[in-house]
Amino acid sequence: MLCSVKQPRSTFTCSDLMPRNRLGLKPQISSLPAIANRKRVFPSNVFVRRPLFLSLKDQSLPVECRAYEADVSQPVNVDFPAEKAPSEAAQRLKISVYFATWWALNVVFNIYNKKVLNAFPYPWLTSTLSLAAGSLIMLISWATRMAEAPKTDFEFWKTLFPVAVAHTIGHVAATVSMSKVAVSFTHIIKSGEPAFSVLVSRFLLGESFPIPVYLSLVPIIGGCSLAAVTELNFNMIGFMGAMISNLAFVFRNIFSKRGMKGKSISGMNYYACLSIMSLLILAPFTFAVEGPQLWAAGWKQALTQIGPNFIWWVVAQSVFYHLYNQVSYMSLDQISPLTFSVGNTMKRISVIVSSIIIFHTPVQPVNALGAAIAILGTFLYSQAKQ
Ligand code: 3PG
Repeated sequence: MLCSVKQPRSTFTCSDLMPRNRLGLKPQISSLPAIANRKRVFPSNVFVRRPLFLSLKDQSLPVECRAYEADVSQPVNVDFPAEKAPSEAAQRLKISVYFATWWALNVVFNIYNKKVLNAFPYPWLTSTLSLAAGSLIMLISWATRMAEAPKTDFEFWKTLFPVAVAHTIGHVAATVSMSKVAVSFTHIIKSGEPAFSVLVSRFLLGESFPIPVYLSLVPIIGGCSLAAVTELNFNMIGFMGAMISNLAFVFRNIFSKRGMKGKSISGMNYYACLSIMSLLILAPFTFAVEGPQLWAAGWKQALTQIGPNFIWWVVAQSVFYHLYNQVSYMSLDQISPLTFSVGNTMKRISVIVSSIIIFHTPVQPVNALGAAIAILGTFLYSQAKQ
C-alpha cells in the first residue's frame, strides 16, 4: 500500500492507512504537516523497530515522523539520503531469507514433533516443553546480554495475559490434534484460520468486510470440509484440536490488537514474553491432565523403542518450535501483514508436502483436491483483504 501526501499544509495521519501486523497493530505516526508539491511515499514493506525521526531537507518546513517498534511502523523512505535507505533488492533478499528460515524451521519442528508424539503420545507435556525451551533460551539470552531485555511493567503483563491464554490454548490444541491425526491433516484444517477470523470479527465484533472476502471463505470452508470427509485416518479429537487452535489463534490476534496498541517492544521480545507467560499458564494443567506417572512409563517405553535418539528428538521439537515462532515474529518487523499471511499459507504447503513425503501419509486424490482448494481460498482471502 502506498500512502502519498500531496496536499498543501493539511494535517495527515498515515496510521489509518497502514496495514496491521500479525498482532493486529497499526503504526503510530504523529500528524504530518504535508507540504505542497512534494510527494512523500511510504512503502508498506519497510519496517523499523526503533523510534524514527525524519526531517525534510527543507528546514523551514520540518516534518517529524515518529514510529514505535510494537506497531511495526514503516515510514522510512521519506527523503532518506540514498546511501541510508536499504535498496529494494537488499530488502527483498532479507525477506526471502526470513521466509526460507521460517518455513525450514517450521518443517523441522513439525517432523520432530510428530516423531516424538508417535513414540510418546503426551501432547500436553511436549507443548509445555516447547514453551519451556523458548523461555529458557530467551532468559539466557537476556542474562548474557546476547539480546536486549525488554522494559516491561505490570500493565504490559496484564494486557499480555489474555493473549497468552489464547496462545496456550491454540498451541496445546494443535499439538493434541497432531498426536491424533497426520501432520498434513492438522495443517489443512489450520489453513482454514481466515474463515474463523472473518466469522468471529463479523458475528462477535460486528465488523464487516467487502464481498470478495466473504466469497473467499467458500473455497476455504469447502476445501477443508472436503479434505476432512475424505481423510483416511480421520479422528474427531484431531479434527477438533485443529479447529480449536484456529479459533484460539483468532482470539490471540484480537487480544494482541486491543492490548498492545502503542506499546513498545520488538517482535522477538514480544514472543519471548508470550512464551514465558504461556508456560506459567500451561504447566499446572499439564500436570493435572497427564502427570509424572504417565510420563515416566511413556518415556521408558519410548527410549526402549527408539533408543537415546529419542531425547534429541524431544530437544529438537522444543527448540525448533521456539525458533520458528521467533523468526516469524521477527519477520513481522520487516513485512506487511498481507505478505505475512501469504508467507504463512506457503509455510503450510511446505509442511503438508514434506510431512506427506516423510511419513508416507496415504492421500487420496479427492483429499488432495480438498487441501488444494482450501489453500487456494486462503490466497484469495489474502488478496481480497488487501
Ligand atoms: C502450535 O503448536 O502452536 C502449532 O503447530 C502452531 O501452528 P502455526 O504456527 O503453524 O499456526
